Amino acid sequence: MNPFIKLPFKILLVTLLFASCTNEDNNLQIEDNNITYTNTVKAIIDANCLSCHISPPINGALMPLISYNNVKEAVQNRNLIGRIEDGSMPLNGSLSSIQIKAIKDWEVGGLPE
Ligand code: HEC
Repeated sequence: MNPFIKLPFKILLVTLLFASCTNEDNNLQIEDNNITYTNTVKAIIDANCLSCHISPPINGALMPLISYNNVKEAVQNRNLIGRIEDGSMPLNGSLSSIQIKAIKDWEVGGLPE
């Protein structure tokens, strides 16, 4: 192959390799199972659920999700994970697959505070 053509290919290859490494790094925080209520779950719930699940709950929501114990109880007894996976909660939108995975990983890790 003509060396003038080879060089752009090498640059492309190196760029692709670099890009794939960078992506893995971005996912590390989620793949590592160090997810706690305080470091990850609370922010997701606060931003997506408290417009209804405050205390006392509004808009017909059945329970608050404002504390560690509220959210833990909802995972254990109110099918919180099933409801975010099937997209029925949040009622007015949906969580991203990364957010859903973070909450599932939190459960697998034993729901640490
Ligand atoms: C726009 C209002 C609204 C938002 C936002 C919302 N919910 Fe709800 N939620 C409701 C209503 C109304 C119900 C009761 C009706 C039902 O179960 O569908 C409910 C019920 C639930 C239940 C079932 C409770 C039970 O005992 O059966 C769970 C679990 C739940 N929500 C979790 C969440 C989570 C987690 C979020 C955020 C990711 C969220 N909800 C966001 C309105 C909301």
